[in-house]
Amino acid sequence: MNNYVKLLNNLEKLKLIKTKENLDNYIDLINDNKKTLVDALYELTNQELEFKNTKAITALVRMAGFPYYKTFEDFDFSFQPTINKEEILDFKNLRFIENKENILFVGSPGVGKTHLATSIGIQAASNRHSTYFISCHDLITNLKKANYENRLADKIKNYEKYSVFIIDEVGYLPIDIEGANLLFQLINKRYEKHTTIITTNKPFGQWGELFGDNMIANAILDRLVHHSHIINITGKSYRTKNLIVDSENDNCN
Ligand SMILES: Nc1ncnc2c1ncn2[C@@H]1O[C@H](COP(=O)(O)OP(=O)(O)O)[C@@H](O)[C@H]1O
Ligand SMILES: [Mg+2]
Repeated sequence: MNNYVKLLNNLEKLKLIKTKENLDNYIDLINDNKKTLVDALYELTNQELEFKNTKAITALVRMAGFPYYKTFEDFDFSFQPTINKEEILDFKNLRFIENKENILFVGSPGVGKTHLATSIGIQAASNRHSTYFISCHDLITNLKKANYENRLADKIKNYEKYSVFIIDEVGYLPIDIEGANLLFQLINKRYEKHTTIITTNKPFGQWGELFGDNMIANAILDRLVHHSHIINITGKSYRTKNLIVDSENDNCN
């Protein structure tokens, strides 16, 4: 086996996929005196790093479990004038992660809560922050299951480690006292350590009713609201946007 073949094998073993792919091209460039060895190695390593970074980001975004891939650019701020666009776009800087701040989206269905929470999550994952998206209902189901199987501590430890943890749709389905207690344990563990983002259709004043217990609702809210950005969206549903336009057209006809 000659050294060229051995080199290809080494690159394969070292998982330097891009370098292996680009090697021939750079050998030709060096042979033609178009690149120095240093320049060639620098460019090859740069391309490898870029490839690995893109791969890691793709994996982080996939593993986060977003319901759809939507970014800030896909959001029509003019449709939702109660939103402070600058405040939302500042989330792109991810300062909230450094400051361990929470973000709470409150508003009726269809106003863009999940969209914006997802956009923030994608931005975080794209900057290589571990991110996880889960509905409140699935989260509580998973915590309960772990509890019955005597592995609650491990489950919470797993959820606790994410830099950004998004709990979607708090309040769409009723939460029993066991669910409320489990949710409290997780929120308490994450408190002042990492960012938690929630979306809810229930104003905070109704959380006592939602959790069936004022004390636990207040305990959860206290920890969520302390060091947080609260985004109240009071506009119309984007989902029924076309229905409204259609009925307006109907009226015109
Ligand atoms: N202002 C907006 N601009 C563009 N798309 C929007 C806007 N608001 C909502 N949507 C879209 O409408 C749908 C419902 O929004 P979503 O964020 O899921 O609502 P909810 O507030 O119930 O979580 C999604 O497909 C979302 O991308
Ligand atoms: Mg939603």
